[in-house]
Amino acid sequence: MKIYIALALIAAGTVAVAHSGVKNPDVMNRMIGMSEMAKQMKTVGAMAKGETAFDADAVNAALATLSEEASYIPSLFEINATDPKSEALPVIWEEFDTFAGHAKHLEEITASLAGTVKSPGDLGPVMKEVGKACAACHSDYRKE
Ligand code: HEC
Repeated sequence: MKIYIALALIAAGTVAVAHSGVKNPDVMNRMIGMSEMAKQMKTVGAMAKGETAFDADAVNAALATLSEEASYIPSLFEINATDPKSEALPVIWEEFDTFAGHAKHLEEITASLAGTVKSPGDLGPVMKEVGKACAACHSDYRKE
């Protein structure tokens, strides 16, 4: 199951960034999942900064992809796997429902934003709202 998800994530994007030194495959899979989401954010962020041309379809597609990727988060973290390179805090597995709730929130917010982006002016607010949903989880469950 987990392997399928990781493969699907890799197939959906390009090859994931190398997470050098990570030995635990479950930790590796969840890092790949996170990196895939970061890639969608980068697509939108580059347009927001004017580095790439505005493309509403690409932004709306990135948001839909993010929503799908967010739906995988709980299963990617289901096993309490550790690795010296991991930044995951053990509290994740003490309050897994709350952790999964943050994933659900990201899934829902990106789904509701997908399709709404029409002009470059929409990019800032979208980045802010999605970024907040990422940060809400990171601040409690990831080492700073
Ligand atoms: C439900 C909680 C949660 C949400 C929501 C979440 N993350 Fe994460 N993220 C984590 C945890 C926990 C880790 C640390 C994983 C590890 O090192 O084992 C992490 C790690 C990462 C990493 C580092 C991956 C690596 O290679 O080590 C990136 C990049 C990242 N997240 C991006 C994002 C982005 C972008 C979003 C929003 C679109 C997001 N995350 C939303 C929990 C979350």
